[in-house]
Amino acid sequence: MAEAKKWVMKDPKRENVFWPTAELKKQAWVSDEAIYKKAAADPVAFWSQQAEELHWFKKWDKAYDPAPYAYKWFIGGKTNLSYNSLDRHIQAGHGDRVAIIWEPEPVEEKALHITYKELHERVCRFANGLKSLGVKKGDRVGIYLPMIPEAVVAMQACARIGAPHSVVFSAFSPESLRDRLDDAGAKVLITADGYYRRGKPIDLKKAAEQGAEGTKVEKIVVVKRLDGSASMKAGRDVWYHDLVAKASADCAAEPLDAEHLSFLLYTSGTTGKPKGIMHTTGGYAVQSYLTAKWNFDLHPGDIFWCTADVGWVTGHTYINYGPLMNGVTTFMYEGSPDMPDYGRMWAIVQKHKITQLYTAPTLIRMLIKQGDEWPAKYDLSTLRVLGTVGEPINVDAWMWYFEKIGGERCPIIDTWWQTETGANMVNNLPGVGPFIPTVAGRGFPGIIGDILDSGGQPTKVGEGGYLAIYAPFPPSLTRGIYGDMDRFKNQYFSDYGPERYFTSDGARKDDMGNFRITGRVDDVMNVAGHRLATAEVESALAQNDKVSEVAVVSKPHDLKGEVPVAFVLLRKGIEPSEEIRKDLLATVNRVIGPTGRPEEIIFAHDVPKTRSGKIMRRILKSLVRDEPVGDLTTLLNPETVDELKKAVGYKG
Ligand code: PRX
Repeated sequence: MAEAKKWVMKDPKRENVFWPTAELKKQAWVSDEAIYKKAAADPVAFWSQQAEELHWFKKWDKAYDPAPYAYKWFIGGKTNLSYNSLDRHIQAGHGDRVAIIWEPEPVEEKALHITYKELHERVCRFANGLKSLGVKKGDRVGIYLPMIPEAVVAMQACARIGAPHSVVFSAFSPESLRDRLDDAGAKVLITADGYYRRGKPIDLKKAAEQGAEGTKVEKIVVVKRLDGSASMKAGRDVWYHDLVAKASADCAAEPLDAEHLSFLLYTSGTTGKPKGIMHTTGGYAVQSYLTAKWNFDLHPGDIFWCTADVGWVTGHTYINYGPLMNGVTTFMYEGSPDMPDYGRMWAIVQKHKITQLYTAPTLIRMLIKQGDEWPAKYDLSTLRVLGTVGEPINVDAWMWYFEKIGGERCPIIDTWWQTETGANMVNNLPGVGPFIPTVAGRGFPGIIGDILDSGGQPTKVGEGGYLAIYAPFPPSLTRGIYGDMDRFKNQYFSDYGPERYFTSDGARKDDMGNFRITGRVDDVMNVAGHRLATAEVESALAQNDKVSEVAVVSKPHDLKGEVPVAFVLLRKGIEPSEEIRKDLLATVNRVIGPTGRPEEIIFAHDVPKTRSGKIMRRILKSLVRDEPVGDLTTLLNPETVDELKKAVGYKG
């Protein structure tokens, strides 16, 4: 193994508290605690100063407009995400640096290295290709692509011409895709003929076609990743390679208003209907750029690996825009971490000399289960900073990541944020610390938040409450829900008013002012790193004609964090059977995709209800979690709770 420097030291007075070493502080972009105070004193000035690091075709007239529910950043400024990701580096003479390294899943296939110049050319050609299909500034474009470099090319091409993209996770079902395309009113859909997953080629074209049916999509662009045998409908379908071959490599980036919609990303709310979260150009660019740079301490030559899928916000910000705006190499892996064996991730770190790894606790837990011998086989000494995101991390997973992957020398940056926030909001910086298992940290410089009780008062140290983010809101915070600004106001600003964004996360703070995030307080789950509403699973199951009523609640799970459990009442005359269970799972698969699959289906005769007939999901949740069920006296049907206790094996 190569010699690797120690970056982190243990606090001699506190258990499980770690600090950056003098060496790490020396190298880190930020090492002085004072930045927090300075930024908090004037967040608008702080962000404006940071924004100067990016390219603006025209500088803003006003940095921040605090209008309630309509806050804006860098008003009057013109910029472009793609220009900042590509042209800026080429002009600085760094066009030959590697922008993307892509590792295909099949081990026998060679990895691909794409320089900034090459990526620029690909993006320009594709942007022109999109224009030739009639895509104009402001038109929404659907992207339904697997983990291939064209996913980044497609997002960048859209950003270049100001056509907001709406990326849909490739494992989502055609129905989920259709809902999202419909809501966005997308004219063009970019997809692939398929991809490799767990050694098998997966057909994506068919799903894309089904999803586009009945929507406004006129053209489907198809990237060839498999054998190219997919059937193409004349007039509608175009091969990506044909489109770019004909297109010019010259496409100037469009100067866009800072508040121009850069993308929509659909995410789960508390109802069955996902919400189209809107992100801007300027504010999003600044915060993505800066958080990527400071959180992971990105320096030229770094090879940054974010293991998220491009279909989630983490992939948008930390595979694509964040690292590329920083001019480092972003690494993408097509496949599954167990292909051909559980050493694949560590083999990749060794092979490509990954310097920062950013992943989710669910993946760490899955890899812990496979044994320490897998990471031990590989040289992981190139790693400098480790990151986690997506759900609260448990102590064991944190310590394993720290010891076995980071060799006790890399800081672990636990980054709390959401699809809505666009970029990271809460964490502790590598050169500042502290790094504490299960504790995300404090607001990134310039981001002010607190843990409040339900009345809006700050909680005391150690007391549970809700995480809220204060105005002036961070530049990358969503500007709304596409087509539903009332839902936006109600969801985020009805609890604490327009000056405090309600995150829907429970949290508490420690005596050093760090936030420990305890998880969602609404009916949104984090299942193996995927955000999912219980209501979405309910509405999927309700589509099965054998179901008369259904209630879904979440339950903790050792590996996946949380899983959905479904209580299903079948229609009269239908008896529960293994076949029906399979049929119900197939329905969820069809409507949502495999990510929505309930871990357990409990067939019931009834579920607890209030006198007005509302299902008491709180009680069902307590039942599956073996927690006290509380007062049952107000129920319409208290007897049903005893029956369900037996069905779920409740120990009480
Ligand atoms: O509950 C929080 C959890 O993930 C939710 C947001 O999910 P999504 O929009 O899919 O974005 C995930 C990636 C940014 C949050 O409301 N979450 C995210 N990061 C953390 C977390 N919970 C605890 N610790 C984190 N670091």
